[in-house]
This record gives sequence, C-alpha cells and structure tokens, in this order.
Amino acid sequence: RTADIGVVGLGTMGSNLALNIAQKGFTVAVHNRTIAKSFALRDDNPGIGDNVVPADSLEDFVASLKTPRLVLFMVPAGKIVDDEMATIAPLLSAGDVMIDAGNADFNDTIRRSKAVEETGLQFVGMGVSGGELGARHGPSIMVGGAEATYGLLSPILTRIAAQYEGEPCVAWLGPDGAGHFVKTIHNGIEYADMQMIAEIYGIMRDGIGLEPKAMAAIFEDWNTRGLSSYLIEITAVTLAETDPETGKPMVDVIVDEAGQKGTGRWAVIEAQKLGVGATTIEAAVSARGVSSRRSERADAGALYAGIATQAGGFAGDAAGLAELEEALETAKIIAYAQGYATMAAASQEFSWNLPLAEIARIWRAGCIIRSRFLDDIARAYDSGETVVNLLQATDFVARVSAGQGALRRIVARAMLAGIPVPALSAALAYLDDYRRPRGTTNLTQAQRDLFGAHTFHRLDKDGVFHHQWPAV
Ligand code: 6PG
Repeated sequence: RTADIGVVGLGTMGSNLALNIAQKGFTVAVHNRTIAKSFALRDDNPGIGDNVVPADSLEDFVASLKTPRLVLFMVPAGKIVDDEMATIAPLLSAGDVMIDAGNADFNDTIRRSKAVEETGLQFVGMGVSGGELGARHGPSIMVGGAEATYGLLSPILTRIAAQYEGEPCVAWLGPDGAGHFVKTIHNGIEYADMQMIAEIYGIMRDGIGLEPKAMAAIFEDWNTRGLSSYLIEITAVTLAETDPETGKPMVDVIVDEAGQKGTGRWAVIEAQKLGVGATTIEAAVSARGVSSRRSERADAGALYAGIATQAGGFAGDAAGLAELEEALETAKIIAYAQGYATMAAASQEFSWNLPLAEIARIWRAGCIIRSRFLDDIARAYDSGETVVNLLQATDFVARVSAGQGALRRIVARAMLAGIPVPALSAALAYLDDYRRPRGTTNLTQAQRDLFGAHTFHRLDKDGVFHHQWPAV
C-alpha cells in the first residue's frame, strides 16, 4: 500500500498529527526510532489506524510512500532534526520533500533549505500551533518553502488544519524560513499574552485579595467580550480547578517557576536584530527567567521586606474590574502591534512579502493565541488603508485612545503597590514612546558624539555633523 505522506517522530505532537491526517482519509506512513511505537499507533487506534502504515525499517517506510515523497519530521528542535534528515535523505529521490514541522529557529530553517535544495530534494519549514489537541483535531499551520512545493502539501494541510468559519487555518507565507519565523512570533505573542494575563491575576490576588474561583468567574465573563480567546478561556478553567489531594485551588499548589523551550527568546532576539522594540515579549521572557530563581527571590524578599509601598488602590467592584479588563485589552493590542511590527520588519529584511492579513486569519482558530481579536487585525490589514504599524490603524487608534487611561491607572497603581507588571508597563511605555514626536535620543546622540565622534543630524539643516564638545 502506498502512503500519501510519512511522519517521522511519534512523540505526542507527531502521533496526534499522524492520527489527524489518517482521520481525514489520507494514508500516513509512520516511523519512530522505537519501531514498536509505529505499530502501536496503528493498533491502538481502531478505525483510524487502518490509514496508518507502520514500517519495520526506514527503508520500508520510504518505500511505502507515493512519489514525490512527502516526509514530515516532528522531532525536538535542534540537532535531532539534522540527524534525522541526514539519515533519511540518502533514501529519497530528486523532487521528494522533507518537512520540518517542529518549532525550529528560522535561521536553521534557512540553512537547512539551502543544504537540502542543493541535493535536489525540497524543504519546507512549517510552524504548527495548537498543542496536542490542536495537532489531533486541527492546528494552525504556517508554511515556509517554495510555493510550488506547498502545492504538493496543501491538499492534506487544508484538511487537517483548524477551520475558521469554513476557512482552513493554513497558508503559504513565503520562502524558506518564513513559516518558522511567523511561528516564532506567534509564540512570542503567546508569551506576552500569558504574562499580561498573569500580571492581571497578580493584581487580583495581591491588590484586591480575590480567591481563584472568583477570578475564574471574572475571566469567564471577560471571555464573552473583546478579550474572548483561548488563553482567557483556559485561564478561567485553570483558576476554577481544585487540587484533589489538598482541596485547595490548583493554582495555589503549583510552584511559581515557569519553564521555556526557547521560542519566546528567539522572538525577542530576532526583534532586536531587526531593530524593533518587542518589549512586551521581552518582559515576558525575562519574567520567566526571574521566576525560575525562586530561592533567590525569597532571599531578596526578606532583604526588602521593610520597604514602603502604597497598597489599597485597587477595587474589586464592577468599575474596578472593568478597568482591569480595559487595561488588559489595551496592552494586548500593543503587544500584538509589536509582534506584527517584528514580522513587517522581517518581511522587508528578507524580502518575504509576508501576508500579514492572512497571518491574522490563520491564527483565528487552531493556535494557542486564537481569538476574536485576530479577526479585527485581519480587518485592519484588509481595510485598504496603509498600516505602517497596527497602532496607526484607524480602529486601533480609537481603541487604544479609549483604553490607555485604564492601562495607565492600573500600571501606576500596581507600581505604587509594589505589584510587578513588567509586560503591562512595557506596553504602556512603548505606546508613550511611540506616540511622542520629539523623543530624547537627541541627548544620546550628543553623548555619543562627545565620547566617540559618532556624529549626528541637525533639525535645521541636512548633513552629518560633529561638534567640538568641551574636553571632559
Ligand atoms: C503552540 C505552542 C507550542 C509550545 C511552545 C511554548 O503554538 O502550540 O506555542 O509550540 O507550547 O513551544 O512552549 P514553552 O512555553 O515551553 O516555551
């Protein structure tokens, strides 16, 4: 029997993606280092398993594929991808396609594309979002590679992707690293979104004194309006959960140390390289870093126990909660604007011509940051107006103007109370910096010119100038 596609790597994501493909009526060959896993995938999934073709060897796996062969790798990012590809490549023929569907660093994807394409094979770097359930029932898929190669994959991808009102959440976004770059920014935004929600939770807990169950009800309510999203939905679910062992709220027994696998950090690094301030993402990545130094924080807490803060500014009544909601919504717009600005800059830098509206559309379902709000972003890019930055799009100017007061008051109060809000405050600072026609880097330029003759431009005439500063 010949298979439409092969999946290498049967971890949770790989297995679920293979089952998703099989369920949609395609025949999928599977390969895993532990061969038994391939057979288990077929045997443990009655019905769907009929479309799963396990193989005894790598040779059999390759032989079972229709040509041109489509081989999808779902293995941990890094060297393992190179190793797996190097093992299989010699068994493939010109025109066959290797697809890296893991969370790859897009710089690796560009390198791999070049290396693979020199051998006559084709390469696709594909971001897949939606976690385990997304992979199984419909992820959001961000594809980078040659457009013609995408044509070979699209019959399968459009069927396995999440559907938003009948539109599949998959798109070809550009050559080589474009798909993985967009996935990286998706994750950066995911980090910022999660951090800002956690900061609001911190205000509810330490500023208002709410219990997790009460917070759950609030987030559930927020999920019916502008903030409606998967992340707000799961926030309500997690806050409502009780630990079966202690009877306490589940969140109260979980250690406050967040892990990370690196994609958020990649997003910040790439934004920095492109000269874009993705400060909300940076704040989120840093906050995870600080969180992981738990015993150090305990010691610092003791050292600063005596400092005075001004608690008591937050209110848990309807007006107080509405203000929190508005602040979060406003900061969220700014965080997404930073993520989109990073993609716009990359698009220029790498001549990708990234379809920014399409990216918002394929993020509306399936992925972790899926939300109603992404439809608004798609509309802004589709409206016909030139969108230099989402913060300049007509709809968002109105929304940010209306909401910035709430964000300002929440951030100010949190700062006075000593409740950390690194991402919310980064959002506000970015807005204030971005909307200020006359900044302060004129002073920076003067300093640079003084100590290093770095030169400067003048407001009143064209050219490059150096001033004879007094000797210091
Ligand atoms: C997704 C997720 C997924 C993963 C991230 C974040 O889009 O489905 O982003 O890819 O959860 O890698 O993981 P960390 O928080 O561990 O970095």
